[in-house]
Amino acid sequence: MNAIPPLQPLPEGEAPAAPAIGVYLSSRLDLKEIFGEATDPRLVLMRPEEVEDPAAVICALCWQAPDDGFDAYPNLKVAGSIAAGVDHILSCPSLPADAVVTRVRDDSQADLMAGFAAFHVVWHHRRMDDFHAWQSRGEWRRTDRPAEPCETTVGVLGYGLMGRAVARAVAALGFRVVAAARNAAEGDPGVEVVSGEDAIGRAAERADILVNVLPLTEATRDVLDAALFARMPKGACVIQIGRGEQMVEEDLLAALNAGQIAAASVDVFRNEPPGDDHPFWAHPRVFVTPHRASDTSRHATVRQLADAVEALAQGRAPENRVDRAKGY
Ligand code: GLV
Repeated sequence: MNAIPPLQPLPEGEAPAAPAIGVYLSSRLDLKEIFGEATDPRLVLMRPEEVEDPAAVICALCWQAPDDGFDAYPNLKVAGSIAAGVDHILSCPSLPADAVVTRVRDDSQADLMAGFAAFHVVWHHRRMDDFHAWQSRGEWRRTDRPAEPCETTVGVLGYGLMGRAVARAVAALGFRVVAAARNAAEGDPGVEVVSGEDAIGRAAERADILVNVLPLTEATRDVLDAALFARMPKGACVIQIGRGEQMVEEDLLAALNAGQIAAASVDVFRNEPPGDDHPFWAHPRVFVTPHRASDTSRHATVRQLADAVEALAQGRAPENRVDRAKGY
């Protein structure tokens, strides 16, 4: 494998002599349309059809790359996600075995995610579904007060950048928070962390409202299933803002119809977009949003890819490198 052409750190304000060449790889989105204005002087990104010399391409910015998307680029060193999740890169059959995979680590995305989760926690805690339905009928109905936040437990599945931000935001509203982490971790104030064996189940069984922000790995695929819903308190709510493949959608539907789960917010689906006949569209207890819980900053995304290429060129490990074996 060829060495990466060295990228010299530049004196402030000077344009680089030879920016690195990267390619946008997506079977679903026009990434140039989305990221074209987010430039970094160290990097030129282009669509596959614009690449004249595939051997010059050393990095890719990816969202669900075509299965053979990486095949054309023999010298590719970095495959960067446009998002926090990298499952879509790791599962791509043409990903070179030695490519470094990076994710975006964006605090502002985590804050947005926390705001989105907090909105849905409040939505379910105050049974806003009912108010919403009554508004459409012009009904002013003041139901009994819900349990106090301090008597209501919010479970957060995942305690990385996203999970921590969500847990902190929800704890700040006064809810009791129990977060499931893969490894033991010190909780932020107001957040109890459970880890190790069956941490997900142990957090879920206490959760009146459960928020999923786990990364997708073999261990977390299908984790939100009938068995987990059955362990939750009857009438609990589910907020699914992780990855679609983590939830068995038929199991949620059955749990909703049985009253075991009272209501859900679903932002991510196994197949996106879900078909017109997907039962969640018209379900009165499911709040559907189109994978829009939060966005990464386009500028941070491109800058972090350029940082990763530069780090490799200088013999350093990129900060946002993911552990390919762990899957995040
Ligand atoms: C969005 O889905 C993300 O992974 O950030």
